[in-house]
Amino acid sequence: MRILLASSEVHPYSKTGGLADMIGALGKALAQAGHQVGVVTPLYRGIKERFPQIRRVDWQFDLPLGGKWVQAELWSLKPTERLTIYFVHQPAYFDRAGLYNENGVDYPDNGERFIFFSKCVAHLARYLPWQPEFVHVNDWQTGLVPAMVLHQARGEGWGNPPPVCLTIHNLAYQGWFPRNAYELTNLSPAYFQAEGAESFGHLNCLKAGIAFADAITTVSPRYAREITTEEFGEGLDWLLRKRQSRLFGILNGVDYDEWNTTQNPFLKHQYSVARLAGKRANKLALQREMKLPVKPNTPLFGAITRLTEQKGISIELGALEEMLNADIHFVLLGSGGTDYERAFQKLTQRFPNKAAVRLGYDQGLSHRIEAGCDFYLMPSRFEPCGLNQMYSLRYGTIPIVRTTGGLDDTVVDASTNPRKATGIKFAAYSAPALAKAIRKSLVIYQSARLLQLYRRNGMAADFSWNRTVAEYEKVYAARRAR
Ligand code: ADP
Ligand code: GLC
Repeated sequence: MRILLASSEVHPYSKTGGLADMIGALGKALAQAGHQVGVVTPLYRGIKERFPQIRRVDWQFDLPLGGKWVQAELWSLKPTERLTIYFVHQPAYFDRAGLYNENGVDYPDNGERFIFFSKCVAHLARYLPWQPEFVHVNDWQTGLVPAMVLHQARGEGWGNPPPVCLTIHNLAYQGWFPRNAYELTNLSPAYFQAEGAESFGHLNCLKAGIAFADAITTVSPRYAREITTEEFGEGLDWLLRKRQSRLFGILNGVDYDEWNTTQNPFLKHQYSVARLAGKRANKLALQREMKLPVKPNTPLFGAITRLTEQKGISIELGALEEMLNADIHFVLLGSGGTDYERAFQKLTQRFPNKAAVRLGYDQGLSHRIEAGCDFYLMPSRFEPCGLNQMYSLRYGTIPIVRTTGGLDDTVVDASTNPRKATGIKFAAYSAPALAKAIRKSLVIYQSARLLQLYRRNGMAADFSWNRTVAEYEKVYAARRAR
């Protein structure tokens, strides 16, 4: 099949979170499975310099944006057979220090930037010479594409357009903009209604996608169920219930070419389930790197995260406040909310020999934390899929997770099956519940037998992409057969 994927971030070119990992890996895996794949994404600052093989495509186009016309230049790269990355070059929108914000403040023209990007996606879907047979868009930044395709099919002579699938990676970010942003779409008012792009008089880009996509997927089966409830529906559960027959939960895969412990350029010491000595060595190296006392027998807990409410930061802080009185270490790599950043800095001041925090974004350190820790904390309030708990499993680092979304779908707790346990789950969204889970992990840590059982089970768990790809293929095929 010929598939066009669109995303506002794609690893290794741009990334703020798991969306980039997911799209980078999905594109690669679909191409490996024999499909012809194009991935469209913005050309952000620095990409050309980091990927000198990138080439300008001899194809520029001007697209209407409300009353004005804006030009896009196209650049491209062919990382592997059957896979082409198309970069939309429009420096006024994308040559900036951040992807969506700077110093914690969103760019005020994000609506305009991603309406333009969505128009580029629809344009490529229509005019790319290899004629994509299926379009797959992701999150609010490309949420308007299904409506744009429909609009061109109904009124602008696009006969037989490809079906469009929308994947929701996070329902909490919907892309709300004032009513006048809708003018920039050049769509007819018919799409701006309660069962379309409109929410309380505003433009809601993700809602438009949910309303007009041919298929809707989200990134785990449990989150697919959760978002149809009021508790997790972020105000859109009613619409998702309406569209339930087209809503599918497909668990993300892990790109084990990148996330592994045997051939990993970011790790000093390679290791495997049969040779765990390297894991111990990585632990000591991590304690040194994070300037903690080097203590091989002190259990080391870690987290790598955007510092937002979603990730359960407040209960994590509460639980650590209590648990750091025990003989444990904690390391965090995170960026985001300045209040949370300050709270973690305070925690390190209170427990200078036990807690260490690195603020900012650091890919290498994220691998070293996964490898060096004994336990990984992911107490999310909600979690569409979550990748770090799956990375932890492969790195022999036992995840401690809350039973929500993809966390629940990927970790096995001893209460379900003691012989197959891979991690520790807790249900209540509270600091005491997390502290109790941490205490359970200390019991595991004390028993060489249990520690080995959890590690072996976790490292053997397989979330490779072929299963995920097969499920997307089913969705694509069913929509095309319509
Ligand atoms: P989300 O997409 O909600 O942030 P995921 O678990 O799906 O959560 O994916 C997060 C991805 O971003 C992982 O690859 C993780 O390692 C990475 N990440 C998050 N914060 C940082 C950071 N500060 N530095 C480096 N990588 C980070
Ligand atoms: C979002 C979600 C995360 C998911 C990722 C990739 O950022 O918050 O749970 O793993 O997308 O799908």
